[in-house]
Amino acid sequence: MTNNKGNFSQKENWENSVDHAVKRFPERKDPFTTSSNIEVDRLYIANKDSEGNELGYPGQYPYTRGIQPTMYRSRLWTMRQYAGFGSAVETNKRFRYLLEQGQTGLSVAFDLPTQIGYDSDDVMSEGEVGKVGVAIDTLHDMEKLLDEIPLDKVSTSMTINAPAAVLLCMYIAVGEKQGVPSEKLTGTIQNDILKEYIARGTYIYPPKPSMRLITNIFEYCQKNLPKFNTISISGYHIREAGSNAVQEAAFTIANGMAYVDAAIESGLDVDSFAPRLAFFFNAHNNFFEEVAKFRAARRIWAKIMKDHYQAKDPKSWKLRFHTQTGGSTLTAQQPDNNIVRVTLQALSAVMGGTQSLHTNSRDEALSLPTEESARIALRTQQILANESGVADTIDPLGGSFYVEELTDRIEKEVNDYLERITEIGGAVQAVEEGFMQREIQQNAYEIQKGIEKEEEIIVGLNKFKVDEEVNPDLLKVDEKLEKEQIDSITSIRKDRDSKKVEQALGALKKHAQDNNSNLIPYILDAVKVYATIGEICNIMRDEFGEYAGI
Ligand code: 3HC
Repeated sequence: MTNNKGNFSQKENWENSVDHAVKRFPERKDPFTTSSNIEVDRLYIANKDSEGNELGYPGQYPYTRGIQPTMYRSRLWTMRQYAGFGSAVETNKRFRYLLEQGQTGLSVAFDLPTQIGYDSDDVMSEGEVGKVGVAIDTLHDMEKLLDEIPLDKVSTSMTINAPAAVLLCMYIAVGEKQGVPSEKLTGTIQNDILKEYIARGTYIYPPKPSMRLITNIFEYCQKNLPKFNTISISGYHIREAGSNAVQEAAFTIANGMAYVDAAIESGLDVDSFAPRLAFFFNAHNNFFEEVAKFRAARRIWAKIMKDHYQAKDPKSWKLRFHTQTGGSTLTAQQPDNNIVRVTLQALSAVMGGTQSLHTNSRDEALSLPTEESARIALRTQQILANESGVADTIDPLGGSFYVEELTDRIEKEVNDYLERITEIGGAVQAVEEGFMQREIQQNAYEIQKGIEKEEEIIVGLNKFKVDEEVNPDLLKVDEKLEKEQIDSITSIRKDRDSKKVEQALGALKKHAQDNNSNLIPYILDAVKVYATIGEICNIMRDEFGEYAGI
């Protein structure tokens, strides 16, 4: 049936896209039913949203109800637990354990020295090696990290920003050693420096050279790693720093626009890189606000990409995102209460249509998670997916008077922020002026005041407290790891072909001086001859300088 303009109606368009989607991902069940054997439809349609707009269909612009025509009825979200500590061997064990327990994607946490481009034997690394993530100095460590993990089957996210190009090249090199060509590699590199300036702090270089490295990755991946997501534009850490939901979505989208602008200015066509931009959001405590935030963010990004950037490829319009439950909501008090918090937060991410999800462990306010805590966190996702029924129909809260009104309201308030940031001159300018940082600090202050005045109740923290605290067994990173890592890097330096290393680093230095040169191939050559992350990053420190911050 077509409408009076002779076009398919929205519903027909959607039904056609369903037929196409199920060819690649057939629906998980046929039929889906409730416990009383009531058949569960694929989608329930409320004619209008609260402002009388067409609510639209999943997999159809502007994607309010989700980016895939069948969403979780065909493919569940990726269960992708952030993990990494100590040595590459230790972390590889945890990766393989989580994959055996049913995790469906990898997510690498690197230690601070790696994240800031220092070798484990650098004086700056003392006391931090392997502490908050895995220590990676050379390709040798990356080979051990990914040992017996098939890179043609598993997608890997890497939480690395300033030295993202170095770790991406190590990943490509391990793929080659496994016989997996770069074209087949799937995964994501976080590669989002603006939120590091705003909230997270693991930056090295000033904004201009940092943006160059980021767009170099976009350009290199579009030609050589077409299935790899080149950036994970993150709101997670902005929220963790104390923003509210509207600020989280607004500052993240503003950063996303800055990356699109930079890529276009570097000469790239928007549809050549935009389909591989990805996002990363927080799932915080207010359940309905979080669901509405995800739905509003999808709709805002779709309109920006289609209308403002004139992107023609629908894949450029889709906001695909990973979610992590809010680390800052975890309490050290009564740690088991965190399992309940994480469940509700994970549920909001699923009801909001996330593509990938990390659930925090109950003990993470105290330390990195034990194996048992990490398993409970993964089981939380598996119970949501397989027992709760929430994945059996699409956008189940769609049409709710409250959720649609909240979605519209958040969309409006995010757009107000985007207008203010545009007036300042865009996200890079706003960051350099400290606008976003001030907004976040103010909100963080309000949150803290609310808790201290008990206007905001945090169970176990400012109400419903218990005196005796049972100290759970916590994960301890073996102190001797630092020495072992230093011994390892010393022997790598001794055994490698130092002439080849010198040549590779020399070529990188030469091309770093030419602003029009894409540095990825030269970084790849350097990692392949076992140049260290510190040696490579120091070449760029010499050329670009270090950013002193706001
Ligand atoms: N119908 C048809 N196709 C479907 C489908 C459906 N229902 N569901 C999925 N698919 C397809 C997708 O289109 C995709 O195919 P394509 O690549 O050819 O388009 C494929 O199946 C895989 O699906 P997704 O891309 O949706 O899922 P992924 O898990 O592969 O990717 C992502 C998700 C959000 C796009 C990606 O960027 C990602 O995995 N991000 C994770 C980032 C992450 O883990 N970050 C952790 C950071 S930790 C941190 O920073 C916090 C610390 O500092 C404390």
